[in-house]
Amino acid sequence: MRICVFASGKGSNFSAILKAIDEKKLSSQVVAFVTNKPGCGAELIAKEKDIKTFHFNSSDLITSLKNLKVDFIVLAGFLKKLDENFINSFENKIINIHPALLPSYGGAGMYGMNIHKEVVKNKEKFSGITIHFVNENYDEGKIIFQKKVDIHKDDDENILAEKIHKLEHECYPWVIKKFEEDKVKIINGKVEILN
Ligand code: GRF
Repeated sequence: MRICVFASGKGSNFSAILKAIDEKKLSSQVVAFVTNKPGCGAELIAKEKDIKTFHFNSSDLITSLKNLKVDFIVLAGFLKKLDENFINSFENKIINIHPALLPSYGGAGMYGMNIHKEVVKNKEKFSGITIHFVNENYDEGKIIFQKKVDIHKDDDENILAEKIHKLEHECYPWVIKKFEEDKVKIINGKVEILN
């Protein structure tokens, strides 16, 4: 696949994807990068790898990505809403990773440490990650994959964040691989990952 990564944070998930490509665990290429936070860690990673970078506000973003033959979009720490036109231009080809078990701990304001703080405050026994399709509403697209992590009594939000990141870095490339292999199917409105 010809992937465009959207990210505005540190970029550790972006790095995990690039690493999987370098190690030939994935056969895709990252051909474009989009951010709304110039200078963020993720953008530095893109620069280092010479990946063509666009600002989220740039006009003709869809055309630019289509010209580069982008056929899959991976959001990895990107908080801006994508408009309907963009989503329709890449139907069922945009995925996001969320550091909690949706539909719990999703929606506006639920991102990054806010989530982990809230989860710990509520004394949850477990949290986890969700990889889902992106639609016009935050965190409401069809769920593709979820995995839990246990929360121990003494875990604070930093320990939880670390556990979640580790899981994300393992699972995001794994799910992308399933798309490469055309093993992610929507059957009767539900997502199934074939073996
Ligand atoms: C991840 O925890 C992801 O779930 C969320 O944003 C965070 C990005 O982290 N959507 P990083 O920039 O990949 O380190």
